[in-house]
Amino acid sequence: MDPLRDGNAYARDSGYEFLGEGIPLDRWAREYPVPGMEKIQYGYNYKDLVLNVITVPRQQNACNFHRLIDDREARHVFVEIGGGYGSFALDMRQILPNCAYVIVDLPETLIFSASYLLSHCPDLRVYVYAPGDNPAEILKDTDSFDFAFIPNYRASALSALPHIDFGYNSISFPEMSLDSVKQYLDLISPKLRRFFMSVNLRYPLDRTIKRPGTDETLGDYFKLFPTPAEYRSQLSLTEDQYNNPSFRPVFLCTTDKCRPLKQTELHMFYNPNYGKVTVNRKASGAAIVRRTG
Ligand SMILES: C[S@@+](CC[C@H](N)C(=O)[O-])C[C@H]1O[C@@H](n2cnc3c(N)ncnc32)[C@H](O)[C@@H]1O
Repeated sequence: MDPLRDGNAYARDSGYEFLGEGIPLDRWAREYPVPGMEKIQYGYNYKDLVLNVITVPRQQNACNFHRLIDDREARHVFVEIGGGYGSFALDMRQILPNCAYVIVDLPETLIFSASYLLSHCPDLRVYVYAPGDNPAEILKDTDSFDFAFIPNYRASALSALPHIDFGYNSISFPEMSLDSVKQYLDLISPKLRRFFMSVNLRYPLDRTIKRPGTDETLGDYFKLFPTPAEYRSQLSLTEDQYNNPSFRPVFLCTTDKCRPLKQTELHMFYNPNYGKVTVNRKASGAAIVRRTG
């Protein structure tokens, strides 16, 4: 049986194609073959790329980063909190080929992301925290590494970074304690030069845990684009729809010290219930959020 099924219909119906519109194909998110095990790939074959259900959210976020960045070849500092097995970081290498990429995660997850990224990028300079290290010594020189893997219990080392161009968190703030989320935002917000992208459900899946929505916590640190009110009113979302875990709005978070956001059209595809959505920014800074079909 050929595990790589025809992907044309999947790329269209999943939103993958729409999410990549206008972006060169070599920057699209994909499933990369494991070096030495190239025959083991599952998913859909589309334009010679392999994709599956976990590729699509990465396609949304990687392509939106591409739309928002006009100096992709420059050296940037990128901080991802909760990087999973490292697949988004690998996608981002095509978008930002020359960046110092820091992943902060639980040590048991760093085992997977570090081994995944080391296998795929054997030529890059990688720092993996070891007990007894002082990770601040590494992080203070962002020209000295391409990837750094920092366990959550040494997150305070982020304060050694001279600056942070981009921050990113996808589908993981709500699974951390609120104190952890605040610790990360306390560390990142003062150093941020461009924006922090959050793509999250609003509340922990365990709804017995009472805490502010992810958007509200982000709002304590940043100005959000679009605002929660813009999403709600322009997509006509009820309170229940906005709170639903399947609705994962993209927020671009900035402080007064950040460079203004680039004028561009962002593409989002929440799920078949909400469909294709575009977001544009008016000169006033307000968002135009539209379903496009
Ligand atoms: C659901 S996964 C999401 C992974 C990836 N961001 C994605 O969108 O596919 C949640 C991630 O958050 C990480 N995580 C959980 N608690 C954390 C904490 N306190 N600090 C940093 N990362 C944490 C998990 O280890 C995992 O990498």
